[in-house]
Amino acid sequence: MPRNVVANEMTRSVLITGGAGFIGANLAVRLKEWHPEWHITALDNLRRRGSELNLPRLGAAGVTFVHGDVRAADDLPSDPVDAIIECAAEPSVLAGHGGESPRYVIEANLGGLIHCLELARARGADLIFLSTSRVYPVAALNSLRVCEEPTRFVLEAEQPLPGASACGVAETFPLEGARSLYGASKLCGELLISEYATAYGLRAVINRCGVIAGPWQMGKVDQGVFALWMAAHVFNRPLAYLGWGGTGKQVRDLLHVEDLCELVDRQLTETERFAGQTLNVGGGTANSLSLQETTRLCQQITGRRIAVGSCPENRPADVRLYQSDCRRLEQLCGWRPTRTPEQVLADLHAWMVAHYDLLRPVFGG
Ligand SMILES: NC(=O)c1ccc[n+]([C@@H]2O[C@H](COP(=O)([O-])OP(=O)(O)OC[C@H]3O[C@@H](n4cnc5c(N)ncnc54)[C@H](O)[C@@H]3O)[C@@H](O)[C@H]2O)c1
Repeated sequence: MPRNVVANEMTRSVLITGGAGFIGANLAVRLKEWHPEWHITALDNLRRRGSELNLPRLGAAGVTFVHGDVRAADDLPSDPVDAIIECAAEPSVLAGHGGESPRYVIEANLGGLIHCLELARARGADLIFLSTSRVYPVAALNSLRVCEEPTRFVLEAEQPLPGASACGVAETFPLEGARSLYGASKLCGELLISEYATAYGLRAVINRCGVIAGPWQMGKVDQGVFALWMAAHVFNRPLAYLGWGGTGKQVRDLLHVEDLCELVDRQLTETERFAGQTLNVGGGTANSLSLQETTRLCQQITGRRIAVGSCPENRPADVRLYQSDCRRLEQLCGWRPTRTPEQVLADLHAWMVAHYDLLRPVFGG
């Protein structure tokens, strides 16, 4: 959906942390396009492989880039700021597992958020927090009743837990239980945001995102699965169905990053409506795919078949099926995704083909 450039509006300064990452850079470019008068600053420590490829895009769009680390309070810009979009994170659900220290995921995701909260408190800035569906506990999600169909697991209508239905998982889903260090770092952040809202009047919105996907996502095996899947087809890399019997029937909902950008733009410009809300943001049941189905779509789009191996054992914190129930968001503002999973994959394909040589070092192995 093309959007109109807003003329003669109030100039705003927006800081996007993790602004060279997949979501942060797409947001920075779109916000600058839609609001040419705004000052958009993207701060990033370039830890994620491939984030550096976004720097020319940011520069061409008129976005100011700051090479900085949210773990260091002094790295955050001292310029005036009206809104902060917190996208800096170690986003892997496997962070802190397999002998790796949990220090980075906690210090970046929670410590970095604390620095953003303090900046928001000092400047009176609004905050948009990119949280995750991974705040919902793993054992509770895996206790949901599913039936096994030829290409995917499907949620049953009757579920044992509140907040769960055939429509997916709602914000009222129980929060007791472990959820991964990544998910815990985000849930701790949500709790702090709520305290800052009450104690200091912070105007904040929490977006519990399901899988977000689209161009400029440097997908890897532990994060960005749909970009990884398409990249394997484009760059001819091996793939495997990991966990849940190794049949590729596990399901995720997916949301095109452009749909997310449009929502965040509304949240920035309709602050009164969104402040104080915790919202599931995802593709929902209608926009979900199993890995098997993703393989079939990748084959159709690329005209190529690659070998897909199989490993039946689950990895830590693995979830059989996740679909966002976004009815709270829809009731609040009428929002619904407008782009289909097929379009997400087609856009990923077009991006990879157009930037084949640039992306080969990231995806080509
Ligand atoms: N992509 C998804 O499917 C998804 C789903 C749910 C939530 N989220 C959340 O959205 C946000 C953005 O995710 P993404 O998919 O763009 O990931 P990404 O890895 O592409 O972007 C994160 C960016 O943060 C940067 N970063 C990491 N540590 C930093 C630090 N200490 N200081 C400054 N920058 C740092 C990285 O270099 C990277 O560019 C994250 O908070 C993530 O948890 C993403």
